[in-house]
Amino acid sequence: MTGLSAATSTTTSGARKLKLGIAGLGRGFTVMLPTLALHKRLEVVAAVDTRPAAGVRFEADFGGTAYDSVEAMCAEADIDAVYVATPHQFHAEHTEIAARAGKHILVEKPMALTIEDCTRMIDAAAAAGVHLLVGHSHSYDAPILEARRLIETGDYGPPRLIAAMNYTDFIYRPRRPEELDTAQGGGVVFSQAAHQIDIARLLGGGMVETVYATTGNYDPDRPTEGVYSALLKFADGTVANLTYSGYGHFDSDEFTGWRGESGAMKDPANYGAARRALSEIGDMDAEAALKADRAYGGPAGASAPTTSPEDRLHEHFGLFVVSCARGDIRPGPDGVRVYADEGIESFPLAPPAVPRSEVIDELCAAVCDDVAPLHSGAWGRATLEVCRAVLQSANDGREVRLTQQVPVKDIG
Ligand SMILES: NC(=O)c1ccc[n+]([C@@H]2O[C@H](COP(=O)([O-])OP(=O)(O)OC[C@H]3O[C@@H](n4cnc5c(N)ncnc54)[C@H](O)[C@@H]3O)[C@@H](O)[C@H]2O)c1
Repeated sequence: MTGLSAATSTTTSGARKLKLGIAGLGRGFTVMLPTLALHKRLEVVAAVDTRPAAGVRFEADFGGTAYDSVEAMCAEADIDAVYVATPHQFHAEHTEIAARAGKHILVEKPMALTIEDCTRMIDAAAAAGVHLLVGHSHSYDAPILEARRLIETGDYGPPRLIAAMNYTDFIYRPRRPEELDTAQGGGVVFSQAAHQIDIARLLGGGMVETVYATTGNYDPDRPTEGVYSALLKFADGTVANLTYSGYGHFDSDEFTGWRGESGAMKDPANYGAARRALSEIGDMDAEAALKADRAYGGPAGASAPTTSPEDRLHEHFGLFVVSCARGDIRPGPDGVRVYADEGIESFPLAPPAVPRSEVIDELCAAVCDDVAPLHSGAWGRATLEVCRAVLQSANDGREVRLTQQVPVKDIG
């Protein structure tokens, strides 16, 4: 693999810093903003977005250079890696451009929309000798990694059953038109199952054999999947039962004492706020305007923080319980609890100094220290295969057998 250049700067402890360019300054980038602004091993020096206002805000926040195409950024900027956070349908193209320019790549979930595109991306990275990581996904969350470590100790016996449940308002957040069209990557399976399945695969060892699923599309004004329920059978007999609803009624953050997905407290009095806000604005054009207003560089958009957000615990993606032969393992925003034969054991985790630092830690370990990543291209392709199998099973009414699965790299 291609290491970092000699000109690379270092942290105060002497660790090499990674120079990052960003493709796509939208919502995905915005939720990574605290990480990108505060992580000590990172210098964010370049970015590209088709919205000029985003580039202007980027230059003000990071002091870097905004480009007008991914090609130009990769050709001209002094960067080691590119974070591809453009919409799903551009992931393959932008990854290939970065790989051809010799840049390492962190590509947002879902890795792409088809297995063929994932394979092209993996091949492009291999041909260029660069690392390809897929993320952020919530399987990077420290409590999930801690739960996996506890499974790997073998102290509670092998995992047998994984139950997961997440109820959100995903469907009623402001959307681009293609986010409401499954054929173009819309709906909760591509965007949200990509998290839940990634976690279930990590906890269950990775090797899903078959998928049986149903999906639901309950709102004709938002004509894509808003719910799914999926049964994943792993090669070793482990079963994962995953349920997701994005229709903004019950909110499963109630199970975490109203800690939201970001690890911050949320106010249960805001019940139905996303659906209400949307019903007040009429059509797709108004929805696009609302999204642009709140986007990075827009009048109501976020800017890069200078300090870590206060009162944040770890991020999460709803309820997960892993039943092993001798105990149930439950990750949560403050750590992991194990309901074992002799009593309840706690494995608390200190609040994160930098949110989502695990993603950049894994990227830096790969690029700067040549440590093979857990969330590799092959791993991301396997998760996408399960997402696609959920849609196929729901459509065909039968179990789908998988062929692209890879095991979890040992994280003990
Ligand atoms: N991991 C997470 O928590 C998380 C959260 C949100 C989004 N995402 C992922 O981020 C990706 C983007 O989704 P989003 O919600 O940010 O969408 P978005 O519409 O909010 O942002 C996309 C951005 O990309 C820009 N863009 C579009 N085409 C471009 C091009 N050809 N070149 C450069 N810039 C271009 C747009 O102007 C926009 O600013 C998706 O793959 C999504 O799954 C991940």
